[in-house]
Amino acid sequence: MPLGIVSAWNKRRRSWSLDQNDPWIYKRLEYWQLDDQTPHSTKRHHGSSVFTLKEMEDATCSFSDDNLIGKGGFGRVYRGRLRSGEIVAIKKMELPPNKEAEGEREFRVEVDMLSRLEHPNLVSLRGYCADGKHRFLVYEYMNKGNLQDQLNGISETKMDWSLRLKIALGAARGLAYLHSSSAIGIPVVHRDFKSTNILLTEQFEAKISDFGLAKLMPEGREIYVTTKALGTFGYFDPEYTSTGKLTLQSDVYAFGVVLLELLTGRRALDLSQVPTNQNIVIQVRHILNDRKKLRKVIDPEMSRSSYNIDSISMYANLASRCVRHNSTERPSMADCVKELQLILFTNSKGLRTGLHLFKMQPRTT
Ligand SMILES: Nc1ncnc2c1ncn2[C@@H]1O[C@H](COP(=O)(O)OP(=O)(O)OP(=O)(O)O)[C@@H](O)[C@H]1O
Ligand SMILES: [Mg+2]
Repeated sequence: MPLGIVSAWNKRRRSWSLDQNDPWIYKRLEYWQLDDQTPHSTKRHHGSSVFTLKEMEDATCSFSDDNLIGKGGFGRVYRGRLRSGEIVAIKKMELPPNKEAEGEREFRVEVDMLSRLEHPNLVSLRGYCADGKHRFLVYEYMNKGNLQDQLNGISETKMDWSLRLKIALGAARGLAYLHSSSAIGIPVVHRDFKSTNILLTEQFEAKISDFGLAKLMPEGREIYVTTKALGTFGYFDPEYTSTGKLTLQSDVYAFGVVLLELLTGRRALDLSQVPTNQNIVIQVRHILNDRKKLRKVIDPEMSRSSYNIDSISMYANLASRCVRHNSTERPSMADCVKELQLILFTNSKGLRTGLHLFKMQPRTT
């Protein structure tokens, strides 16, 4: 158990004063560099390393465009090869000066969290670089990129229903691990769960990334009041947005939105629609428990032979509960894992017995 982080948190609970031990208060860059500045890679906890700027340049051929794999709010992401030969993803922090403090905090949280968390459904941090003003995060390389691109981006692969269920279950397991105290002794809220933060391996195993906004939930407190809602439009828990009360259930709402993306193949926020109909939850919420209408929103890209309607309706029912307005009515992530296991089983059983064909016969009366 990471005693350091727990005791720092307890100290904060006792005083609630803004002191130097508070991991959430911004500190000048120099503060974090005290023991991180070493000329060569040094092993840290859980095998993550500290890299130099030179190593980052060598790994990416000086950040050549050929190695660019993506761009997000934090900066560009490059494919790189470390001196050890390992292929990695290197995220380069590129923020305007007025966002540097925020970026530094996210950088620090990401390193802190990922160095302590270990689970097959969380992307692993291979190391980081904090060389002068330069900041890089180095992750295991995820061959199939992010889920959103696989669903409605450039990808050629048409994901069938069982593959989508496998991804949903993997992501649910990752979140359930974060929410359980078994991770680091205190539950962790991700706060920016979304389909671009679910990365996929060659075998389509899902791993959650981007912990920069993650927050520890203090023991005995189920609610944490924040003044500024942080996260991404389309995934915001409406209760958190209106009250500022952050709970583990805010992640469950975002998970429900991802479940809907997997079912429909639509984006969480579709800006081509009129403003009142842009949000996927608003578009489909009213039909999730209506078996007949439900068929109309199933992603047409999905092979019909890969699903049975029983598993689809169980899944839609779970999604509808995850996106309930009232957070106390949403299931826990542990419940989501159990239900998704049952849904996967129902789907495979239905396909084996040909149940789905029987159920989907066109009505003659
Ligand atoms: N470990 C990784 N392996 C492979 N590709 C990655 C990895 N990390 C990130 N990427 C790719 O780089 C893209 C940009 O990632 P990044 O996390 O910076 O932004 P984002 O999640 O898309 O958006 P936001 O900044 O709003 O969170 C991702 O969408 C993904 O396609
Ligand atoms: Mg991301």
